[in-house]
Amino acid sequence: MSRTMKQCLHLGNTNVLGVISLIITLGSLNVKVAECRAIGLGNSEYSAINCRKHSATLTDFGGVGDGKTSNTKIFATAIANLTQHASDGGATLIVPSGKWLTGPFNLTSHFTLFLQKDAVILASQDEKEWPSVALLPSYGKGRDAPDGRFSSLIFGYNLTDVVITGQNGTLDGQGSYWWVKFKKKEFTLTRPYMIEIMFSDQIQISNITLINSPSWFVHPIYSSNIIVSGLTILAPIDSPNTDGVNPDSCTNTRIEDCYIVSGDDCISPKSGWDNYGVKFGKPTKNIIIRRITCISPDSAMVALGSEMSGGIEDIRVEDLTAIDTQSAVRIKTAVGRGAYVKNIYVRNLNLNTMKYVFWMTGSYGSHPDPEFDPKALPVISGINYKDIVAKNVTYAARLEGIPNDPFTGICISNVTMELSKEQHKLQWNCTDISGVSNNVTPTPCEELQQKVFMN
Ligand SMILES: *[C@@H]1O[C@H](CO)[C@@H](O)[C@H](O)[C@H]1NC(C)=O
Ligand SMILES: *[C@@H]1O[C@H](CO)[C@@H](O)[C@H](O)[C@H]1NC(C)=O
Ligand SMILES: *[C@@H]1O[C@H](CO)[C@@H](O)[C@H](O)[C@H]1NC(C)=O
Ligand SMILES: *[C@@H]1O[C@H](CO)[C@@H](O)[C@H](O)[C@H]1NC(C)=O
Ligand SMILES: *[C@@H]1O[C@H](CO)[C@@H](O)[C@H](O)[C@H]1NC(C)=O
Ligand SMILES: *[C@@H]1O[C@H](CO)[C@@H](O)[C@H](O)[C@H]1NC(C)=O
Ligand SMILES: *[C@@H]1O[C@H](CO)[C@@H](O)[C@H](O)[C@H]1NC(C)=O
Ligand SMILES: *[C@@H]1O[C@H](CO)[C@@H](O)[C@H](O)[C@H]1NC(C)=O
Repeated sequence: MSRTMKQCLHLGNTNVLGVISLIITLGSLNVKVAECRAIGLGNSEYSAINCRKHSATLTDFGGVGDGKTSNTKIFATAIANLTQHASDGGATLIVPSGKWLTGPFNLTSHFTLFLQKDAVILASQDEKEWPSVALLPSYGKGRDAPDGRFSSLIFGYNLTDVVITGQNGTLDGQGSYWWVKFKKKEFTLTRPYMIEIMFSDQIQISNITLINSPSWFVHPIYSSNIIVSGLTILAPIDSPNTDGVNPDSCTNTRIEDCYIVSGDDCISPKSGWDNYGVKFGKPTKNIIIRRITCISPDSAMVALGSEMSGGIEDIRVEDLTAIDTQSAVRIKTAVGRGAYVKNIYVRNLNLNTMKYVFWMTGSYGSHPDPEFDPKALPVISGINYKDIVAKNVTYAARLEGIPNDPFTGICISNVTMELSKEQHKLQWNCTDISGVSNNVTPTPCEELQQKVFMN
């Protein structure tokens, strides 16, 4: 098979949009408090191919894959060179077998980064290699340190049609350097993410392994039409902030068929932080998360928030497995966040060894500025869960809304939870929430027993 054939990649834009319009329709069904709806996703397969007309290998530009020589300039030169093909069929940069040490580099449009089998991109541990980049407008401040942040290892800005894929090659963030220094509070800039793509459209990240990111792994932000598929993401379960995939103020995104072991949330849709996120006003919506396996003993399989100040809506979570994970599909928010989390549909979860099956937190804290707007109350409503089997559970539920701002329209049906030997006495701890439930064991709190029509 020719090189070109092998590099044909899958990004069927027409079909992506097809899937996405289906979600929009479903989201607009406006599910009411009393109903737990089962809504099929339909056929969302896509098979279109996005071939690149041009290709080059990192070694064409003098790359050295010995794990010691820095290739930072080589990546920059190679991608600058291949940019010339953007309007002529696009280009693929092949990273062959070897260990390619590098600092951050920027992607270009109509471009594929292809990691062959046994290709390892090693992130430099030399801070001088890492430029600083502007703060995110929807966050206002850096997460680790207020004043600035390091570029991510692989960064994209204002792009169209970008693919990062391969034959399961590896991105190794060599995160230990950053975790140790972070824990000692020695950074004045926020740690790098592994992949960050901003203000971009048509992105695919697939079929690679990502290990030991300095902080979050995959962070698409202010972007649309995104496919994240077939990733293996691995970080030590005690590593700080190593979230797997965080779509942030993004629309039309599919995250599927990934295996994630993390020290933080496996997947966390977000949309900006307090007043900065409210002002920026870009929600995360129309997201499908499916067929993911998550291991995260101290965090969630899917966490909505805690940064959600642009709003989070129309999220579908299906066919997920969690093992030894703190909670399943959690909501994290706080007074000061404003905006909303609404129209969330979760179904078919298989959970083993969970601290909480259901967990919502209205007092998450963590603010960019000490003074936040006490009137910026988040609206949490229309949160649907069905068809869940959980084993070895410590607490069924801790559902904590906000006083004078209850979380409403919570709907839980067809859930079986087997409690562990260490089960807590109070299995359903509910405050400032309301909703309905049907066929749930152990029996839910009174707040979820509204006497209304069930189907
Ligand atoms: C980069 O592009 C130029 C054309 O602009 C081409 O002649 C050159 O061979 C390329 N460099 C490499 C190393 O492929
Ligand atoms: C990547 O582009 C951004 C601007 O979009 C710039 O600030 C940054 O320095 C660039 N990074 C590299 C490694 O050139
Ligand atoms: C974004 O890209 C377009 C062309 O693709 C260009 O015209 C525009 O200036 C770019 N904007 C920024 C902020 O880089
Ligand atoms: C990719 O590599 C990872 C890490 O070695 C491995 O766990 C995973 O099973 C591989 N995936 C595929 C599809 O071969
Ligand atoms: C990922 O790899 C599998 C087989 O290894 C292939 O069938 C699939 O098309 C690839 N997916 C993407 C999105 O590249
Ligand atoms: C309840 O959930 C289980 C497990 O997910 C599923 O097998 C079963 O079909 C569901 N029952 C109904 C009535 O939907
Ligand atoms: C059940 O959960 C407890 C923690 O609550 C854990 O220590 C134990 O290993 C789990 N048992 C099984 C069979 O997974
Ligand atoms: C119940 O939840 C509330 C609010 O999260 C918490 O303050 C309280 O300690 C919990 N009670 C028990 C018995 O766990």
